[in-house]
Amino acid sequence: MLDESRLIGNLEILSRVQKEGSAKVICALKGFSFWKVFPLVSEYLSGATASSLNETLLATEKMGKEVHVCAPAYRADEIEQILRNATHITFNSFSQWSLYKKETLKKGVSAGIRINPEFSTVDVDLYNPADRYSRLGATKKEFKPELLDGIEGLHFHALCEQNADALEAVLERVEAAFGKWIPKMKWVNFGGGHHITRADYDVEKLIDILNKFHKKYPSVEIILEPGEAVGWQTGELVSSVLDIVRNEIDIAILDISVSAHAPDCLEMPYRPMVMGSAEHGVKPHSYRLAGNSCLAGDIAGDYSFDTPLSTGSKIIFMDMIHYTMVKTTFFNGVKHPSIGIWRNGEFCLVREFTYEQFRDKLS
Ligand SMILES: Cc1ncc(COP(=O)(O)O)c(C=O)c1O
Repeated sequence: MLDESRLIGNLEILSRVQKEGSAKVICALKGFSFWKVFPLVSEYLSGATASSLNETLLATEKMGKEVHVCAPAYRADEIEQILRNATHITFNSFSQWSLYKKETLKKGVSAGIRINPEFSTVDVDLYNPADRYSRLGATKKEFKPELLDGIEGLHFHALCEQNADALEAVLERVEAAFGKWIPKMKWVNFGGGHHITRADYDVEKLIDILNKFHKKYPSVEIILEPGEAVGWQTGELVSSVLDIVRNEIDIAILDISVSAHAPDCLEMPYRPMVMGSAEHGVKPHSYRLAGNSCLAGDIAGDYSFDTPLSTGSKIIFMDMIHYTMVKTTFFNGVKHPSIGIWRNGEFCLVREFTYEQFRDKLS
C-alpha cells in the first residue's frame, strides 16, 4: 500500500536536488517500479533508468521523458528495441560498445561507458559493485581511451544506501582515475545508492558536491539515478495472522511469505520494522513472525507486542515499496499481496493477483 503523500514528500526533496544542484535525477526502475504513480513521478523527475529491455519498455510506456539504460551486457536480439526506445545507453565494457557502436550512433542514442572506481565504502560484498574482480564497469587498467570516439558519457555506481560523504569519497577516486576524460564528456552519471530521502541524509552536502563538480566541469551534465530513495518509506505490506503454533516459542504464521514477498529480508539479510512492535521480549507478548511457504527459513524475525496476537491480527511491515516489492515472486503459489494506493485519505485498489497470472508465469 503506497501512501502518495509520502511519495510526494520524497519527490520534493529529489526535485530540490535537481534544481539547486544543477543535476538531473532519474528513477532507477530496479528499485522503484510502482508504475501506477509514474505520471506523478514524472512531474518531478527527469525520467527513468532501466536495466533491461523490459524496464526500457516500461520506462517508455509509463514514464516518458528521458529513458536511460544500463546493463552488464545487452543481448543481440534485444539491442535494436532498446536503442529504439532509449535516449541514453551505458555500456559496461568497451567490447559491448564496439559491438553495438554503429547501431547506437545510427539511432542517435547518447552512449556512455561504465567505469569502475575500484573504491567503495559498501560493507556487504553482495552489494559492492566496486569490489575486487567486479564485472561492473571498466577499471582504469581496462579503460581504452582509443575507443572513446562516439562516447558522450561516463557512468559510475559504487554506493548502496549511503550518505553524501560516501559519494564525496568515491567521486575523488573517480576524478583521480578518470578525471582526464570528464571534460570531454556531455554527461557523467553518478549512479544510485544515494539515500537522499532518508531523514539523516545530508542534502546540503550533496548539493554542494554537485555544484562544485558543475563549477569544475561546466559543460558536463550530472545525472543521479536513485531507486530506493524514490520509494523510501512510502508504504507498507499489510499481512494477517492465519495461525499461531508453539514449538518452545510462539510462532505466528502469516498470510504472506517473507521469501516470496520480501525476499531482500532474507537476501540482505535485514530485519523489517513492524508497526507497533519491539524487539523480542521487550513488550509482554513475543512471537516469531513467519511466512506461509515451505521454506524453513521463511521468517521475518522475533518481535514483541503490547497485546496478544490471534487469528486475523494485522501485522504491518514498514517500508516495503522499493526493492522489496519489485522482487516479489509467486513462490509456493502463496497469494500475492494486492497493490493499493492511499490518495487524499482514500484507498484505491490498483491490482489483485489471480490464479491465471500465477499459472502463466510457470509454463
Ligand atoms: C547502475 C545502477 N544504477 C542505479 C541503481 C539504484 O540504486 P539505489 O536503488 O540504491 O539508489 C543501481 C542499484 O543497484 C545500479 O546498479
